[in-house]
Amino acid sequence: MTSAFQKMTDAELDAALADLERQADELRALDLKLDMARGKPSPEQTALSRPMLDLLTSQSDLTDNGADADNYGAPEGLPSARALAAELLGVDPANVSVMGSSSLNLMYDCVENGYVHGIGGEKPWCQQGTVKFLCPAPGYDRHFTVTESFGIQNVPVPMREDGPDMDVVREYVEKDATVKGIWCVPRYANPTGVTYSDDVVRAFAALRPAAPDFRIFWDNAYAVHTFRGEGDPLMNIFDALAEQGGEKNLVYEFASTAKVTFPSSGMAWVTASPADMAELRRSFSAMRVSPEKISQLAHVRFLKDAAGVRAHMEKHAEIVAPRFALVQQKLSEGLGGLDVATWTDPNGGYFVSFEGPEGSAKAIVALTAELGVKLTGAGAPWPYGKDPRDTNIRIAPTYPSLEELGQALDVFVVAVKLVAARLAKAERA
Ligand SMILES: Cc1ncc(COP(=O)(O)O)c(C=O)c1O
Repeated sequence: MTSAFQKMTDAELDAALADLERQADELRALDLKLDMARGKPSPEQTALSRPMLDLLTSQSDLTDNGADADNYGAPEGLPSARALAAELLGVDPANVSVMGSSSLNLMYDCVENGYVHGIGGEKPWCQQGTVKFLCPAPGYDRHFTVTESFGIQNVPVPMREDGPDMDVVREYVEKDATVKGIWCVPRYANPTGVTYSDDVVRAFAALRPAAPDFRIFWDNAYAVHTFRGEGDPLMNIFDALAEQGGEKNLVYEFASTAKVTFPSSGMAWVTASPADMAELRRSFSAMRVSPEKISQLAHVRFLKDAAGVRAHMEKHAEIVAPRFALVQQKLSEGLGGLDVATWTDPNGGYFVSFEGPEGSAKAIVALTAELGVKLTGAGAPWPYGKDPRDTNIRIAPTYPSLEELGQALDVFVVAVKLVAARLAKAERA
């Protein structure tokens, strides 16, 4: 892609640069302090769940299908919480454990189980020498941090418009027994917003791993987070496994109410094959007696069932959709026709993934910060923070108000243009 700046004459480019430097100086003088860095719901969104706090009082019945929410017991979670979690993912509640308030924490526990105890009777990963995880990139930085923290080697895999490049995934998983896992966000992936196609889901289910202790970490964090239209369809990976016939111990699936109710104060769950769940439960039982069932009770009384969750998520969508629309509007108005960048336009999730000119992302993020707008660090969506082409920037538009977001995007657009113009100038030096 040849940018409009690259096509200019020297005189035109110098004039454009001078004009953009002036615009940047004007923005710098405003001393803005805006944040488009992390994917957090806005205060308006968390307020949607405040009525949940009124549902449990000192007079409330704290039992649920024979389980006491106010005491030890029900180590796999309250029966109605497991039923809700299972309904949302389309799986059997018998294979669901609801525990903790963070799905990332459960993912960590599962990696730790492989690392310390081993999976399916295999040697613990810590005794197997080099161990690798595949990381579709750009992806979720905190996934990569989990495996990196164990000294597991993170291997980037290209992301396409319908999911990870399955030829690359198959090659690694089926030929290299040191590959023990892959991080996946199958619906509205962080940060690309991509939803995996049926072909990709089926290709995952059909994998024949070289390592018997290989597992797919299927993080369905944005399973219910559609903000536009009917939402992208996602095939249930356990249905895809069933199509292959028989039960394979291949997938750990995770989700949580983090961006449904209150991040870090909700409920999280994991589901897997019966054999894998039995193994994980043995490992979990050494960590905790039983989970936070009062929070689970509040959640099921508030959300009720999958239809209740859908209705609640429609309220989130009303708040979130205008912010994503503003991103599209500001980027199209500011950058359309300049051939300097592309960006995603997702139907759900929390992010827009932006691709600038080669070698620009770090400079854009730094300049945007200088002009008062914080963005996720360039490179963060790549293993070890290394974006090989330095092009990707993650935009998280949900937290700021619409007015702040508009200002932040105006700053971002100027920064992108100025960096693209400086790059075009540097090419001619
Ligand atoms: C893909 C993905 N998974 C998990 C999480 C965190 O979820 P939790 O708060 O349940 O740990 C996030 C938060 O941004 C996310 O983007």
